[in-house]
Amino acid sequence: MDLGLKGKKAIVTGGTRGIGAAIVDLLLEEGVDVSTCARNAAEVEALNTRAATSGQSLHASVCDVSNAAAQSDWITGRVAAMGGLDIFIPNVSGGAQPGEDGWKSAFEIDMMATVRGSEQALPIIAQAGGGAIVIIASISGLEGFSGPSGYGAIKTGLISYSSQLAEVAAAHNVRVNAVSPGPIHVDDGFWGKVKQEQPEMYDAVCARHPSGRMGTTKEVANAAVFLASPAASWVAGTNLVVDGSVTRRVQF
Ligand SMILES: NC(=O)c1ccc[n+]([C@@H]2O[C@H](COP(=O)([O-])OP(=O)(O)OC[C@H]3O[C@@H](n4cnc5c(N)ncnc54)[C@H](OP(=O)(O)O)[C@@H]3O)[C@@H](O)[C@H]2O)c1
Repeated sequence: MDLGLKGKKAIVTGGTRGIGAAIVDLLLEEGVDVSTCARNAAEVEALNTRAATSGQSLHASVCDVSNAAAQSDWITGRVAAMGGLDIFIPNVSGGAQPGEDGWKSAFEIDMMATVRGSEQALPIIAQAGGGAIVIIASISGLEGFSGPSGYGAIKTGLISYSSQLAEVAAAHNVRVNAVSPGPIHVDDGFWGKVKQEQPEMYDAVCARHPSGRMGTTKEVANAAVFLASPAASWVAGTNLVVDGSVTRRVQF
């Protein structure tokens, strides 16, 4: 299937590792001009070196999306450099941190960086004739998977926000959707660390899955990139659960 992505321009937050990196790679394979960001300057530089060596149309910047002004300036600068914007994928999370600081980081990073970025990107994408916003949520927003924490509650809020924004954005030919991954193995990410430090917990989570394993970043990227593409032209306001059926609720 031709996704119709060739020549499009995308911004993906948090693209040096994990799910964001897989989304960046798949967009590049589909012929998209991609801009991404992260905080770790060495990893950003490594991505730019790889792009220069392999001739990929990718640019990575150091930007902490929890800093509203920094994210806004970065988006403005990348839109100017790419000559427009068709796709925005806010992917960064503050993670499941304990206590009040965890609630604050979930609100500031998962929620507000997504809201600020999406509302900045929306009129720019509309001006380019339309496109898509894909918000990376989590099944922690659907079930009590990670225990009581800001992470799950704020992910629920993000799914709600995504649906609300979709209604407004549709009038501007911009589709907004959410993707909710289940546990996804990332070697240098959360579950990779759990596998190293708490193998029994890792195995228990795998055993909860009907297929006995966690998902891969590529499996999430496939869903996100489809939703970002013109091939999903009539899909808007949905929350696509990508979890190998670990959530047992009826999906509708
Ligand atoms: N992995 C899972 O099991 C899973 C399951 C459900 C949902 N999700 C969701 O999927 C998304 C990606 O998760 P992941 O597991 O792929 O994360 P990850 O492996 O920890 O990667 C996070 C990426 O975001 C960047 N980043 C983190 N904080 C940032 C900030 N404040 N500003 C800019 N960049 C930042 C990181 O680089 P720096 O550290 O250098 O900034 C890195 O590139 C998140 O929204 C997460 O909630 C993940």
